[in-house]
Amino acid sequence: MSHYKTTLHDEAATQALGKCLAHHLSPGMSIFLHGDLGAGKTSLTRSLIHAAGYTGTVKSPTYTLAEPYAVQIKGQASTIMHFDLYRMISAEEFTEAGFREEFNEKNVCIVEWPEKADGLLPEPDLHVFLSVKGDGREVELRALSVKGTACLASLQFAPNL
Ligand SMILES: Nc1ncnc2c1ncn2[C@@H]1O[C@H](COP(=O)(O)OP(=O)(O)OP(=O)(O)O)[C@@H](O)[C@H]1O
Ligand SMILES: [Mg+2]
Repeated sequence: MSHYKTTLHDEAATQALGKCLAHHLSPGMSIFLHGDLGAGKTSLTRSLIHAAGYTGTVKSPTYTLAEPYAVQIKGQASTIMHFDLYRMISAEEFTEAGFREEFNEKNVCIVEWPEKADGLLPEPDLHVFLSVKGDGREVELRALSVKGTACLASLQFAPNL
């Protein structure tokens, strides 16, 4: 399966999706999150990072652009890099911070506002599109790789989705 769409009726549903995604990640994956301000990108990421075993506070990396979290992925110590590129000013800012190197076979990279770094980012394994629908949200996930497709296939059988 390379495509999955569902309705998230409330924030708890967004959090359930984040948690579920956390359990179906593999090292090296990257996920791009799309959607307007307030669509739920950080909500989703926060619950994903907590479900992957990080117990501290997960803030939106609005000014730092990126924040690393030590987590467990498939029982192995790993790092989730959470990017929010909304305030990225130039390509130099991205490359000089060494962000490009974070997209490697070990890390999981989750990127809010990937559009701001067009041409600098490698293609992700998964695209997640969030949009407001009534009081809730609609979410569409699209897989672009073998890893992304495997992730979506296992999500399909998750009990809470
Ligand atoms: N499924 C949902 N239904 C209704 N409200 C939701 C849902 N999921 C998240 N929310 C709410 O929507 C808001 C999402 O805020 P969040 O900071 O996650 O947005 P964002 O997409 O990261 O925005 P930004 O682009 O500013 O970083 C929060 O107030 C959260 O409670
Ligand atoms: Mg955000």
